[in-house]
Amino acid sequence: MDFQLKTLSIAQAATEKCDVLIVLVASGSSTSKDALSTLIADARKSADLPDKAGKLLALYRPAGVTAPRVVLASVGDGKPSSVRSTVIAAVNAAKGSNPKRVAVVFAQAADAAGVGGAVIAAADASYVYTTTKSKAESRTIRHLSIGVADAGPLRQAFDEATATVAGIELAKEWGNRPGNYCTPTLLADAAKNLAELPNIKCEVLGPKEVAKLGMGAFSAVAQGSAEPLRFIVLRYHGAPKEQAPVVLVGKGITFDTGGVSLKPAAEMDEMKFDMCGAASVLGVFRALGDIQPAINVIGLVPSCENMNDGHAVKPGDVVTSMSGQTIEVLNTDAEGRLILCDALTYAKRFAPAAVIDIATLTGACVVALGGVRSGLFSSDDVLAGALAAAGEESQDRCWRLPLDDDYAEGLKSNFADVANIAGRAGGAITAAKFLQRFTSDFPWAHLDIAGTAWKSGAAKGSTGRPVGLLLNYLLGQSRKGDIKSPARKARKARSAA
Ligand code: BES
Ligand code: MN
Ligand code: ZN
Repeated sequence: MDFQLKTLSIAQAATEKCDVLIVLVASGSSTSKDALSTLIADARKSADLPDKAGKLLALYRPAGVTAPRVVLASVGDGKPSSVRSTVIAAVNAAKGSNPKRVAVVFAQAADAAGVGGAVIAAADASYVYTTTKSKAESRTIRHLSIGVADAGPLRQAFDEATATVAGIELAKEWGNRPGNYCTPTLLADAAKNLAELPNIKCEVLGPKEVAKLGMGAFSAVAQGSAEPLRFIVLRYHGAPKEQAPVVLVGKGITFDTGGVSLKPAAEMDEMKFDMCGAASVLGVFRALGDIQPAINVIGLVPSCENMNDGHAVKPGDVVTSMSGQTIEVLNTDAEGRLILCDALTYAKRFAPAAVIDIATLTGACVVALGGVRSGLFSSDDVLAGALAAAGEESQDRCWRLPLDDDYAEGLKSNFADVANIAGRAGGAITAAKFLQRFTSDFPWAHLDIAGTAWKSGAAKGSTGRPVGLLLNYLLGQSRKGDIKSPARKARKARSAA
């Protein structure tokens, strides 16, 4: 889909050539006498277009308008979340006539958040997964133009939004692919393709290299599968190399059967989405390649299947992580934390400004927060605050949950330094407490996206979350300028002494 931002007054919008014209109308009235303003005023007067976000009025060949179909759409107070939900409703309504060209125009002044939100919402509503369908069914909406009174000041927000869409759609694509079309090797190939973009490099390690690094926890999860594991290292270089990077770590389980602690059959297909954390990291890099912000970012993706064969890790097995800590694998279905802990240990070598892991980690997080907000955990209040704010601003929200040490009680083991599960209570938190053991060298945050990365039921499919949140955070950091690395600073101070 291609996007265009245009300077278009509401009077000019009437002659815009497109299949469907969506007009976003905020509260308050206009006295303009052009065709669309008159339609809006009449609709308001007759109560056919209530002044409430999401209310639509579809018109066919209205007088004085070039587009054959017009959707008047109330955005109420015009706040970004209203624009977003209204654009989704309007594009869904517009889809009925299989339009190729859709224009979304703001009837009143638009701001950066509104334009960005409209682009992301329109793309979201028009997305179609096609890769494993035999018929050449495809997205009908090919061109989307956004019309605003003055495009100039909104250009940057628009460009960032279209790059974000490319990132979200890459994340959706890999999330949606079935396990046999998204193996660790294929995921690594997708990451390698990203190295075509400027300032992105990609390196991929296999089982031997990972074993040599001492990643005994990651290797143990992979050992029951015929598919070889992959450890993906992506680098985006947008700032001087002295500047400490932000490291993103994405859980890349391309299928989670549970292993010997086998999952029930119902809905097990949805465990193809267990690599959505990894997909969000790829999506972020896709967008960074477009936007080229002044920041350094590392992406780490431990990827394997969690399968069950004669070599599979067994409940009670003790494995040694790269950090040296031994782990008793009491439940082979708590595999995400096992692959992540080694990637977190690996992250230390980058002397990072911050490390953020993104994982479809626990069913307990789905119970706690549902599909609305991702779980946020952090040992660092500044980082937690920045991520929470980025979630609000991008409308890709999260909610902070606690990390009191008392929650780690249940992880005690008689046979290793730590067990990989605690009791049922507070399962999202105990998983985070497990990860926290591997993060003492840097500011760290964990996003549990088990509830938000995909939708179940009739609308089953990947959401591309939390690409929007992560990009908003990273762009915010790049605008702040130099990020100091606590680890690097400490090292410098030591060597100076
Ligand atoms: N990938 C799952 C988490 C998950 C389950 C996400 C259902 C979304 C929906 C993870 O690997 C897992 O199986 N976690 C277990 C942990 C338990 C064994 C402590 C869980 O949540 O049941
Ligand atoms: Mn599992
Ligand atoms: Zn899993």
